[in-house]
Amino acid sequence: MEVMSEERNTSDVQKRDAQLEEVARRAGVRAERGRRFAELTSLRVGGAIDWLFVPETEEQAAAVVGALEETGIAWRVLGAGSNVLADDREHRYVVVSTREVKGKAEFDGERVSVSAGFSLPRLCVEAARQGLSGIEGLGGIPGTVGGALWMNAGAYGHEIGQVVETVRVAREGKIVEVPGGEVKWDYRHTSFKEGELLLGCTLRLKRDDPEKIKGRMEEAKQKRFATQPHGARSAGCFFKNPPGSGLSTGKMIDEMGMKGEKRGGAVVSPVHANFIVTEGEDARASDAYALAEEIRERFRREHGVELEYEVELWGADGEFKDEGGRTKDEGDTDEK
Ligand code: EPU
Repeated sequence: MEVMSEERNTSDVQKRDAQLEEVARRAGVRAERGRRFAELTSLRVGGAIDWLFVPETEEQAAAVVGALEETGIAWRVLGAGSNVLADDREHRYVVVSTREVKGKAEFDGERVSVSAGFSLPRLCVEAARQGLSGIEGLGGIPGTVGGALWMNAGAYGHEIGQVVETVRVAREGKIVEVPGGEVKWDYRHTSFKEGELLLGCTLRLKRDDPEKIKGRMEEAKQKRFATQPHGARSAGCFFKNPPGSGLSTGKMIDEMGMKGEKRGGAVVSPVHANFIVTEGEDARASDAYALAEEIRERFRREHGVELEYEVELWGADGEFKDEGGRTKDEGDTDEK
């Protein structure tokens, strides 16, 4: 991400603020100041957000990022914030929230069209009610449809990419439909690039008996309840499973004896060891990061495997740093 480093002097800041106010006003989009990632992400940690833009329709969202691009001011997209660890510093870029781009799920035969801010669990319930199968495994993932598309969310044998007919993407201020077949849907990763705002999608599902679909959804829910923390402040699995290995990172961290391990307000979940949960008012992003890096270090030592983050790390100036301003490459050697 581009770094805004030049705007140290007040007149530059004022000019930029005035520009942003104008961009929001023209697109008819609500702009908020003084919000924090700690309020907007499920881990409930992370620093201040300079500007938060909250469009309510796909058109508004496309227009506002088109205008932002013209200004050259850096921005990034946040959905439900359920897969993001943002560092504790002040983030000096525009966060475009898709949370209010909700619309409603429009069913048409085996297809459903839905906007990025629509809740994924709610979509799964509505699809089941309509007798449409293909996403019932995803019912417990507490994110938005946009977030699920962005990372090809998956669980219990279903991945969203498997059922996408088209994705609506913002390009030059307009809404463009991209066929699902043109997108690479990998394990928790897609070919979408930063700077692309996903606005919504049309999914193609399959007819089945609503009771059977609900049964499978219930089964996935029970499994999730039994094996993953719920009601806790988490971002789901923190690391990917080692690709192609069939191994579970969570199981391996568990076998390393790390459940319950703490760094400040961050804890390796006693329920599922690939979840880092935060606790208490004083929890910091740097606690979760320090704990994650400790896990990676031990994993490297014991298994010779470099764990890849599954959550997104958002740094205030592009790179995630802890409170001492250190990156992981500069050595996070908190030995206390
Ligand atoms: N296990 C342990 N200890 C643990 C965690 C797991 O022994 O602390 C064991 C389980 O008992 C089970 C095996 O490891 O025998 C596999 O566990 P699980 O079914 O939870 O699968 P996973 O590979 O750990 C993956 C996804 C989850 C997804 C589940 C179910 C990744 C990184 N994780 O977990 O996705 O919900 O399968 O499909 O791919 C996420 O994406 O955020 C996420 C949580």
